[in-house]
Amino acid sequence: MAVVGEPVEATLDNTTSKTDTSASAALQPKKVFMRTYGCQMNVYDSDRMTDVLGPEGFTTTENMEDADLVILNTCHIREKAAEKVYSELGRIRKVKEERARQGKEMMIGVAGCVAQAEGEEISRRAPIVDLVIGPQSYHQLPKLLKTARDGTKVVETEFDIDAKFKHLSERAARPPLKRAPSAFLTVQEGCDKFCTFCVVPYTRGAEVSRSVEQIVTEAEQMAVAGVREITLLGQNVNGWHGAGPDGNSWGLGRLLYRLSEIDGLDRLRYTTSHPRDMDDELIQAHRDLKTLMPYLHLPVQSGSDSILASMNRKHTRDEYFRLIDRIREAAPDIALSCDFIVGFPGETDQDFQDTMNLIRRVEFGSAFSFKYSQRPGTPGALMDNQVDEDIKSARLAELQELVAQQQTAFNASRINMTFGVLFERKGRMPGQIVGKSPWLQPVQVDASEDLIGTIQPVEILEIGRNSLFGQLKPGHHDVVGQ
Ligand code: 5AD
Ligand code: SF4
Repeated sequence: MAVVGEPVEATLDNTTSKTDTSASAALQPKKVFMRTYGCQMNVYDSDRMTDVLGPEGFTTTENMEDADLVILNTCHIREKAAEKVYSELGRIRKVKEERARQGKEMMIGVAGCVAQAEGEEISRRAPIVDLVIGPQSYHQLPKLLKTARDGTKVVETEFDIDAKFKHLSERAARPPLKRAPSAFLTVQEGCDKFCTFCVVPYTRGAEVSRSVEQIVTEAEQMAVAGVREITLLGQNVNGWHGAGPDGNSWGLGRLLYRLSEIDGLDRLRYTTSHPRDMDDELIQAHRDLKTLMPYLHLPVQSGSDSILASMNRKHTRDEYFRLIDRIREAAPDIALSCDFIVGFPGETDQDFQDTMNLIRRVEFGSAFSFKYSQRPGTPGALMDNQVDEDIKSARLAELQELVAQQQTAFNASRINMTFGVLFERKGRMPGQIVGKSPWLQPVQVDASEDLIGTIQPVEILEIGRNSLFGQLKPGHHDVVGQ
């Protein structure tokens, strides 16, 4: 699960069906301000919350001051996550008071993993909050909002994932008019792995997979709505499994073969995977499917066997190396990405050097790295050999330096290459558009906005810190990523 430390403003692609004719659509127009923290699953969930609010008369706003409803879609994975939400609520309280002076209402909801973990504690500590809603209950948002508006504080943190998935599928049956070229599709939620540092099994619950039929239908509808690239999402996405129409049990690999048959879907990706669940069929899919992009986020967390065992990662460092070899044999050009934690309890200098040496051996295209933080309720938080903050900081800096070198080398290896870029939006400079390479690198090109939503061959001329810069190469066919 790629998590960013800073809030990600939700990409509100307003996919709500504009053809909705329900009576509630005629309600007074209202504005919702949605702030999304954390992983891509939260971005997907924020979009779905915006979807269910559309028929209730809500449109989105980027200005909190204009909002009749503010929703914080929170992440619990980092240290002091709950405290940060409480201080944000303190700031929002002032905006709410200012609106009240102008005679305007502002309702406040807290969603996501902090909502799930803290529950009623949120209403107790922050009385301005009208609604606390866990990740499995978003489809109930309109009903819960009504209850909250009638003056009852609402705390809804049931784990009813089947109901959420059913709702997502019903929504998919109403095709939206137009969607962004690249979109997420949740196929699986929850995690049964119980890594000893991680809150996810507690905040998102046990692993539940959506059915093949639900996923294929939603993907087909997305293709009709203009989506060219789908990233399948799950906390443990390669743990996805379901009964196929052929009567066999399907894994993620088989599902990818099926999705690659959908007309108009040119690119498939998935995240986040666990090394233990990379089976043969999934690796073969990387060899066989042109639509499956040559990029894999496969967190290892540590390169030390004793730390891996203490993290309960359920594999050794050698098993990870063997897996990487098999993946590279199937897809030699694949870009590997990873998550690392430094300073897990008991991590010695030697353990850390084992991680550094794993990175040198594998060579990653990019990676996320974090200092270990004690998460309440996880076994790691109770371990008594916690590592000093200073040591963690020094190790993180050393690791990030190495990863930055590898990322630069990988980016530089694309110079003079021509490959397909899926253009997604306008760039910061006038006349510039931005897309993604098959290896998930942002690519900037001077070209017409009309190309947004299309895949074009691009030759890479130079690299910046995070992006590649290139020029269109019309007429180049059969290049990777097209
Ligand atoms: N401390 C530091 N990093 C963590 N992660 C998850 N829990 C913790 C924690 N307690 C990191 C892992 C995971 C990523 C999403 O966040 O690297 O893969
Ligand atoms: Fe957390 Fe481990 Fe599950 Fe990933 S696999 S979500 S790190 S418990």
